[in-house]
Amino acid sequence: MTFTDPNSPAWEPLLGAAWRAWARAYAPYSRFRVGAALLWSGADGEEAVAGCNVENAAYPVALCAERTAVCAAVARGLAVGGLRALVVVTEAAELTPPCGACRQVLAEFAETLPILLANRSGRSLCDIRDLLPRPFTGRHVSTGPI
Ligand code: THU
Repeated sequence: MTFTDPNSPAWEPLLGAAWRAWARAYAPYSRFRVGAALLWSGADGEEAVAGCNVENAAYPVALCAERTAVCAAVARGLAVGGLRALVVVTEAAELTPPCGACRQVLAEFAETLPILLANRSGRSLCDIRDLLPRPFTGRHVSTGPI
């Protein structure tokens, strides 16, 4: 499966999962729904996991779709180096890239990660390497990941 082409059919299952999660977003404060779906691989093969933004009456507590997807995947077994691809969908006219905090979280799990940004009518492919150049990682922590 190739994730180097934004129009590759390889993206379709992740796009479907991301839009289904988008419909379940809990965004009563911003009304800005975000859906995400990632593909990760482990010892038992590849698995797709979706996430959506989850807001809160205490506004700063809101969780982004990208991070809820990563957290769900970690709970299923995602380990460092296992992230293969990510899709982020919204209905915004301008495609929605991951926020800074999400870029940092994504960089924890993948040095390179194709990310497809999509809305109802368009898509654009980017990579975590370009969204977060020279990331702070476990290599910069004296103990490294344990
Ligand atoms: N949001 C995401 O889910 N992902 C992003 O990368 C950008 C922002 C959410 C957080 C909040 O619920 C809403 O979008 C408005 O910021």
